[in-house]
Amino acid sequence: MTTILVTGATGRVGRHVVDGLRAAGVTVRALVRTPDLAGLPPDVELIKGDIYDPTAVRRAAADVDAAFLLWPSFSADGAADVVAELPRRVVYLSALSASSGGVWADVEELLRDVGKEWTFVRPGGFAVNAQGWATEFRTGDVVRVASPEAGRSLIHERDIAAVAVLALLNDQHIGQVYDLTGPAVLTQAEQIRTIARAIGNEMRVEALSDAEARQAMLDLGADPILAESSVAYWASLVDNPEPVTTTVTELTGRPALTFAEWADEHAAEFRVLSAAEVADRYVDALSTGRLDQALALTAPEVVRVAPLETGGEEIEVKGADAILENARRLSADIEYLGVDIVGPLLLDNHFAVRFTFDQLDVRTGTRSHTTKLSLCTVESGQVTREEVFYYTPPKP
Ligand SMILES: NC(=O)c1ccc[n+]([C@@H]2O[C@H](COP(=O)([O-])OP(=O)(O)OC[C@H]3O[C@@H](n4cnc5c(N)ncnc54)[C@H](OP(=O)(O)O)[C@@H]3O)[C@@H](O)[C@H]2O)c1
Repeated sequence: MTTILVTGATGRVGRHVVDGLRAAGVTVRALVRTPDLAGLPPDVELIKGDIYDPTAVRRAAADVDAAFLLWPSFSADGAADVVAELPRRVVYLSALSASSGGVWADVEELLRDVGKEWTFVRPGGFAVNAQGWATEFRTGDVVRVASPEAGRSLIHERDIAAVAVLALLNDQHIGQVYDLTGPAVLTQAEQIRTIARAIGNEMRVEALSDAEARQAMLDLGADPILAESSVAYWASLVDNPEPVTTTVTELTGRPALTFAEWADEHAAEFRVLSAAEVADRYVDALSTGRLDQALALTAPEVVRVAPLETGGEEIEVKGADAILENARRLSADIEYLGVDIVGPLLLDNHFAVRFTFDQLDVRTGTRSHTTKLSLCTVESGQVTREEVFYYTPPKP
């Protein structure tokens, strides 16, 4: 039986790689930082660890036949020690821009130098990057973007994963470099209009100046060098649009997915959902362990009031990052064995859900049930407030 290690398995490409390998009957092992928040199918073997920790990678790679490598850093520092722990056969999620250097070229070189049986999957820009416009779509009728006429050949994340899965399963792909793009060039303005069509809305497109675009990226926490180079790159695409490759079709035997198909699949992320839709999606996400999907339904400034999580002292946690951090802290020593969910119960723009967790404290070996009631408020299609009441509070 073949076992394949997937790194970045909870990411946008990685989840599809996991699905593709499982569909092919392969045993999948995933290296994840927070197993209880991974939301991966139960038959995936989870190894807890950080990709930057060679010891964790050694544990994860023990006896696997091949690995899918996602190196999440913008620097290759530490990559040599990690690459040394990988199996001989590695499919690396690189980038089209590896041909002009950067971290992707550095990691490729490492894989070549240590004699791995490598395949480099080099996608151009991901269609899923368009999620960055979701807030403007939901809150107004204008999207402001740098270089609206920049021509891009964005690729669907499922196509990247489909090629990676083929490469992982067939030795004929050893030593191959696959440049992947979507099937056509669309300007950024055309992409915005395509999403608008998918949700049945009219959206105006306004150009950001280069300085405004740089500042917008910095405000989102981007690295200054990346912000500078991205803005210059988009400007260059107005006269010299990105190339289109036919690699996805040649390898998979079907046409590459279009941006319109991507927009149809992701339409719900760009429109204002009703309170009932938010409630159903929120509960679905939590019942399958997809905290990431649940948090995607929350407003950036969402407030979570959880009076008992610190043992009685009322705490308010603000923002998705802080909520995720709180969840990581609470679940650090807990293994969730199951969850029973009642709800959502809806009243106007509020909904309630009761969760009963069957859980094991791995420090003490104690198995217990914790019941909590969440009361959520929905405004403009997003959860803006969640109040949590515990029947059996977790230990702080
Ligand atoms: N976006 C683009 O246009 C584009 C184009 C070409 C290439 N790429 C490359 O594609 C890759 C991103 O792929 P993606 O969008 O599928 O990823 P993603 O959705 O951003 O997810 C990142 C994944 O990496 C994992 N991860 C992050 N830091 C980790 C760590 N320290 N230890 C273990 N796991 C860690 C995350 O796991 P957790 O669940 O623990 O967070 C998650 O599974 C990057 O290497 C990027 O350079 C992107």
